Amino acid sequence: MTNSFLAFAYLLSSILFIFSIRGLASPETARRGNLLGMLGMAIAILATLFSPLVSEYVWVAGAILLGGILGTIPALKVKMTSLPQMVAAFNGLGGLSSVFIAIAEILAGSQTYLETSLGLLIGALAFSGSVIAFAKLQGLISARAMVFPLQQTLNLLLGLAVVGLCAWFVISGDRNIFYALAVLSILLGFLLILPIGGADMPVVISVLNSYSGLAAVGIGFSLNNVLLITVGSLVGASGAILSYIMTKAMNRSLANVMLGGFGAKTVAASNLAGEDKQAHAGSPADAAFIMENANKVIIVPGYGMAVAQAQHVLKEMADDLHNKFGVEVKYAVHPVAGRMPGHMNVLLAEANVPYEEVFELEDINREFATADVAYVIGANDVTNPMAKTNPDSPIYGMPILDVEKAKTVFFVKRSLATGYSGVENPLFYADNTIMLYGDAKKVTEEIVNVLENK
Ligand code: TAP
Repeated sequence: MTNSFLAFAYLLSSILFIFSIRGLASPETARRGNLLGMLGMAIAILATLFSPLVSEYVWVAGAILLGGILGTIPALKVKMTSLPQMVAAFNGLGGLSSVFIAIAEILAGSQTYLETSLGLLIGALAFSGSVIAFAKLQGLISARAMVFPLQQTLNLLLGLAVVGLCAWFVISGDRNIFYALAVLSILLGFLLILPIGGADMPVVISVLNSYSGLAAVGIGFSLNNVLLITVGSLVGASGAILSYIMTKAMNRSLANVMLGGFGAKTVAASNLAGEDKQAHAGSPADAAFIMENANKVIIVPGYGMAVAQAQHVLKEMADDLHNKFGVEVKYAVHPVAGRMPGHMNVLLAEANVPYEEVFELEDINREFATADVAYVIGANDVTNPMAKTNPDSPIYGMPILDVEKAKTVFFVKRSLATGYSGVENPLFYADNTIMLYGDAKKVTEEIVNVLENK
């Protein structure tokens, strides 16, 4: 394959990647976006394989086989609720591959010191940071923010040392400095992510995703590979934009998230379940009766709906309410409901909930005041008013869905336990709240049974 054909193939796959990201921006076009991305990657791999860039096929075949197995098995097995961990693992592997390529380049005598050391530095941060993010999300280590005295100072000193080593290597080209840079960057990645609490992990993963893209840009410059530069830039930019969107949704700044410390302390809503405060429990039959007589019901899905896989029966309930009883039903999706961006949208789309019935926080929040019922299914933090009232709480400042403004609020969950952030929810004890204890799918199935037998 000639160089100009290779350049054409790379251009084609870059265009496909751009359209892929465009498609992924909405649940309606996400599947197409995914296919375009797969096609772009297939073209990129085939064009590279048949180009003069590759001469040693045995090693490449081994790497493709190993990578293919390592990618396919978890992708087939992973549960929807564990996708964030998988993304963290893939980001980490992306970062690690940049580290290996950077080392190989220097060993092969490359003179592109600046680009290679930046690729190494950012790739190492993405790798070790992702290891900690994975371990926190998988429950291998505590999801809490791990803080210790002088942590920020240590991180600052390490950061300065890493920048210094980078400059030293660029000037001297001394390989030992390069290796020291690799070790310190990996250590810095661990230490930067440890003080960040589990509730902030989605933002962290998105930032690390951006890092793995930027590392690829550095390596792309050192290998003089246009496709790596383009794709790395796309990943770097889209990860950075997603991080910005998420921090904005939580009313936080990126610096505030990345400096960590949130979720280090347990925040109890002092004696919520005190003597005079009791949560009121109801039955599925009560819920069916109240909802069939409502004019408007707003459904608020959360992580528990994903765990219970209750989205299909939820759609049945909404259809029954609308078709049999003429109730207006809408869905309110918080930007960080569930465990990954777009988690609820994907599940609702899987159950064929029409897109026009699904609303984002800012488009529906005012409507709770005119709703008869808020049916909160497996959601907790995204409704917790402590986000407005308790500055000590790790979710402080996050905009929430104002479900308590509805006439009646049903919380479908198994207990009064806290959500991901570990913050108690005072709404469970509100006068207009009725707790429907149980698994989200079972409770909703029972409501559907009652509705269908009327
Ligand atoms: P959470 O606040 O985590 O609450 C989920 C609730 O679901 C729990 O309180 C749990 O209560 C209930 N639950 C679990 N399994 C259930 C089942 N089988 N049936 C019924 N209920 C069940 O969820 P949320 O409101 O969706 O908020 C998301 C949280 O995760 C936020 O703090 C967010 O910052 C964080 N987070 C978000 C993301 C993204 S990007 N979406 C990623 C990582 C973390 P019981 O145990 O009492 O049943």
